[in-house]
Amino acid sequence: MNMAEDAGVAHSPIVSVVEHYDDLSQRAAEAVAAVLGRKPDAVVTLPTGDTPVGMYQELVRRIQAGELDFGRAQFFCLDDYLGATPEDEASLTRWLRAEFLIPGNLPENHIHYIPTVADNPALAAAGYDRQIEDLGGFDLAVVGLGPNGHIGFNEPGSLPTDSTRVVELEAATRNQSAAYWDGKADIPTQAMTIGLGTILKARQIVLIVSGKNKAEIVRATLEDPATADVPGSWLVQAGERLHVILDQDAASLLSTR
Ligand code: GLP
Repeated sequence: MNMAEDAGVAHSPIVSVVEHYDDLSQRAAEAVAAVLGRKPDAVVTLPTGDTPVGMYQELVRRIQAGELDFGRAQFFCLDDYLGATPEDEASLTRWLRAEFLIPGNLPENHIHYIPTVADNPALAAAGYDRQIEDLGGFDLAVVGLGPNGHIGFNEPGSLPTDSTRVVELEAATRNQSAAYWDGKADIPTQAMTIGLGTILKARQIVLIVSGKNKAEIVRATLEDPATADVPGSWLVQAGERLHVILDQDAASLLSTR
């Protein structure tokens, strides 16, 4: 059962609080499917991490059942470690290929890999933003929220005008990343991420957050004044283009709940 509760007013983000993680996954998959339904050749970016696992399972289920088709969409990878290739054990792109891109039958020529192995990463990052722009910009950016408020790998200190670029990873983020590979992988100190400025231009942004351990950073993101200390807080300026989907645990410290 989906115990969703929507509280959106004009020019404010739309915040949906659902009961459990499974409801969040369904709701997020619905948001993606709705955009693809309206615009089959949509330009999208979707996140990696623990939070979107259920969303990907539902999207893959729908694609394999013939209910949804990503065949005309253009897909841009959100972030990865600098120098990582899909052959490396610790690669977000590798993870994404296994969880979604391959089982979801995305055509290889519609998948844009963030250029983490370019000779000149700064130049390549600017080229990646240009590719997004040339295709008309993002119709949809689904993002998660890091424990320190990061979006993609836009770590604390990031600005709402930032473009796609190389960033330094905080120790806490590297530890969080290492946990994806049972702590065994050596996580680089730098990464490449689509910038908040590029994400903020998206026609729709969906922020998905689950769990009690994220409740305080969710509260700070949505209720405190926007600050570079909590990069996710910049997303609020997208107003009603931002749809926040939370489970009850993640929403538990919001003052309006
Ligand atoms: C990771 C990724 C982000 C992700 C976030 C939350 O480091 N770079 O793209 O959204 O942190 O991850 P999780 O869903 O595992 O909590």
